[in-house]
Amino acid sequence: MKTLLLDTSKENIQKAGELLRNGELVGIPTETVYGLAADALNGKAVADIFKAKNRPMDNPLIVHIASLADIEKHRLVAEFPKQAALLARAFWPGPLTIIMKKGESIPDEVSAGLDSVAIRFPSHNVAQQIIEAAGTPLAAPSANLSGSPSPTSAQHVMNDMDGRISAVVDGGVCEVGLESTVITVLGDVPRILRPGGVTYSQLKEVLGEVEVDKAVLEGLDDGEAAASPGMKYKHYAPSANVILLNSSDDEYIEYVNAHADSSTAALCCDEDIDKLSVQTYSLGKRGDYISHAHALFERLRSIDENKSISTVYSRLPSAEGVGMAVYNRLIRAAGFEVIDLEKL
Ligand code: TXA
Ligand code: MG
Repeated sequence: MKTLLLDTSKENIQKAGELLRNGELVGIPTETVYGLAADALNGKAVADIFKAKNRPMDNPLIVHIASLADIEKHRLVAEFPKQAALLARAFWPGPLTIIMKKGESIPDEVSAGLDSVAIRFPSHNVAQQIIEAAGTPLAAPSANLSGSPSPTSAQHVMNDMDGRISAVVDGGVCEVGLESTVITVLGDVPRILRPGGVTYSQLKEVLGEVEVDKAVLEGLDDGEAAASPGMKYKHYAPSANVILLNSSDDEYIEYVNAHADSSTAALCCDEDIDKLSVQTYSLGKRGDYISHAHALFERLRSIDENKSISTVYSRLPSAEGVGMAVYNRLIRAAGFEVIDLEKL
């Protein structure tokens, strides 16, 4: 299959919409990461997403809408609880996904057999235009091959999906750089299943009470069920071995320099670059969590492209603000292994 790389001209948006209506797969830009979209109401098209990504069939997909009215019009949810309405008013369109009871039109392929569905209204103008052109809500996971870092540019999508899908629409580099925050409103207290651009404190301000699922910051024990199936996979990992250090800034520099060789790299902050004697991949200024989130997947992919790198050292990030999302992705990339220099 030849994969078309489309710019965002009016004709190309219409073309993308037409492909989607015909049951084909299209890579689309959103403000978080690129999505691999199909008509969410067409079970066969949705099944093709799993094949193109090599995604396990038990991992459900997010349904993307271009207006609040789409939820009722397409009977996407069985009920729209008050907490969902509060969240939608505060954060939609934007990087927040809400889990609700699924409606009658949702195919089993989307919900992976669960009785819930994940809904998101992206703020990216091109994403909205493509959903409108398709005339149907779009199921879309991140447009990477399962297990590799999510794509934040059209080129990343081409690297993983060329020959596997009909087209990719190039809407530029994604602003947030990490996937949306996923929250469930199915229990008494809303619970964050995956942290993202919308933070814990923003959610708490709107909801009053919100919990963070255990799997966000820690690994699951063997056999323990994940509230969000995606959280049980290692995920987000580059092929190099990521090692996290719990340490002060100085201890980090000292440790990395002591372990330096030609196959070592550092995922670090701007302030560390001159002090490190290995190849550096900076996430931005120290403490600027928004820029760290924006850069993380791009840096992990660049590290992957450098075949000489087999080990990457990073400091365990702070879990404050958007930092919680960076922490969650990095600790998975590292397979939950942290070297604690404070205790050595
Ligand atoms: O920012 C994003 O959310 C991107 C863009 C493309 O919108 N999409 C994305 O999709 O990250 P994906 O499939 O890579 O991640 C969806 C996550 C998975 O961890 C999945 O298990 C969880 O959401 N999820 C989906 N439906 C769910 C449900 N009904 N209950 C619990 N978790 C669900
Ligand atoms: Mg993903």
